[in-house]
Amino acid sequence: MTSIITPYEDGPLIVRGDFELRTADGEPIDPSRGTVALCRCGKSAIKPFCDGTHKTIQFKAPGDDSRRR
Ligand code: FES
Repeated sequence: MTSIITPYEDGPLIVRGDFELRTADGEPIDPSRGTVALCRCGKSAIKPFCDGTHKTIQFKAPGDDSRRR
């Protein structure tokens, strides 16, 4: 199982590839598609998925590895 998770600048985490999405209790969450956007701004109404609210609240986050700065 290989997945690629990409943090988008000022946006969600995009997950591509083979993955399973589960709750903290281990219950499966149906992603409904092969590529999903996971909210990292904390304001989505459809968590864990992104609903675009990050744009409204002008969420800021790097799209790279901030440990390297
Ligand atoms: S990252 Fe898009 S709504 Fe939170």
